[in-house]
Amino acid sequence: MNVFPSDFTWGAATAAYQIEGAWNLDGKGESIWDRFSHTPGKIVNAANGDVACDHYHRFRGDIEIMRQIGLNAYRFSISWPRVLPNGVGAVNEKGIDFYDRLTDALLEANIEPYATLYHWDLPQALQDQGGWGNRDLVGQFAAYAALMGKRLGDRIKHWATLNEPWVIAFLGHRSGEHAPGLQDEALSLQVSHHLLVAHGAAIDALRATAPAVQAGIVINLWPSETMHNSEQELKIAHEQWQQDNAWFLDPLFRGSYPADVLEKYGARAPQILPGDMAQIARSLDWWGINYYARHVVGVAGPVPGSEYTEMGWEVHAPALERMLVRLNTTYALPPTYITENGAAFADEYNGDGRVRDPRRTDYLYAHLDAVARAMQQGVNMRGYFVWSLMDNFEWAWGYTKRFGVVYVDYATQTRVLKDSAKWYAQTITENALAPLNI
Ligand code: FCB
Repeated sequence: MNVFPSDFTWGAATAAYQIEGAWNLDGKGESIWDRFSHTPGKIVNAANGDVACDHYHRFRGDIEIMRQIGLNAYRFSISWPRVLPNGVGAVNEKGIDFYDRLTDALLEANIEPYATLYHWDLPQALQDQGGWGNRDLVGQFAAYAALMGKRLGDRIKHWATLNEPWVIAFLGHRSGEHAPGLQDEALSLQVSHHLLVAHGAAIDALRATAPAVQAGIVINLWPSETMHNSEQELKIAHEQWQQDNAWFLDPLFRGSYPADVLEKYGARAPQILPGDMAQIARSLDWWGINYYARHVVGVAGPVPGSEYTEMGWEVHAPALERMLVRLNTTYALPPTYITENGAAFADEYNGDGRVRDPRRTDYLYAHLDAVARAMQQGVNMRGYFVWSLMDNFEWAWGYTKRFGVVYVDYATQTRVLKDSAKWYAQTITENALAPLNI
């Protein structure tokens, strides 16, 4: 059984738009996800985050659930338009109040808050001026970061600037599956660059306003592996890694974009101004990886013998171990967390106080085991956050995908701990992987 260090961070993660609801209450401004989900045809079953898990009103009960699970950390995001309805200018004090109360209640429960400044809900007012395609966002994001550092930096130590720049740039601006729903590759590349520069500017702003903070970023990584290890497959897998992952990791940890990818993009490559790369490559106090699955090159359709989640993502934990070890030899990594990891399954609740989700527990067990194995090989892993604390609004999929270790009955807002939450609780208590048959 794998034992974790005594100061290991055991957390769960959520994001503002996915759980808060209260989309237009107490002075909150409209976000691009409000606009997108209110646009017909964008979300499965025309769902939206207007109410979601009603966490805005129920956060105290949700913190009580975190205590029951024994979490020592909670990763959440701040809704930019809740605190700055227009993105810039007038501060919405009631919005700040919410995060003040949330932070204080977490600290009182001995749960360390990990705040993410941007988990995709850009103020619509800024989208109306070009959104992340507009370079002004760099300064505006830094000003928002400074405001939050000033107001909450005395109590929130761990901050992440962005959640998953790959998703923001490419699902938001190339495939259009996510808000703001644009389909323009050159724009998506410029957006990815602005995001990275804005990240660096926000790191500086946080440190300037709250010098004791630990500032970092959260990156989603999907390693590409191969079916038969042929030269051709390995070449494709390498190109995918470069294009999807090194495109963000190289600027952050080396201060340059991968030359092969830049060359491939040619005239579509982003415009880079003097000083940008140094701004992006600010040293980080920590960083987080969101890991769900791998890509496999050389197989059409599912990998024979593999299990798949409701998202259609392969369950394959060894790829996480391999990726962590490889990252550690490729870059000089800051302290590393898994900031999201989890699985959607078709959970059902029959009212008997239990939700049986053995496949999720298996998934979590295998991935935590992979983290432990990577640590044994020298990777500086500091913590793990399950995605997600509770079932929630899964973006374009609406409420059809359940990722929580806590079940949410959306009609009544009842929460029920799934079996996986009980397994996680025992693992946290023992600081070691609990047996699978509890
Ligand atoms: C990640 C997102 C998170 C959640 C999971 C399933 O890409 O960061 O909000 O939707 O996927």
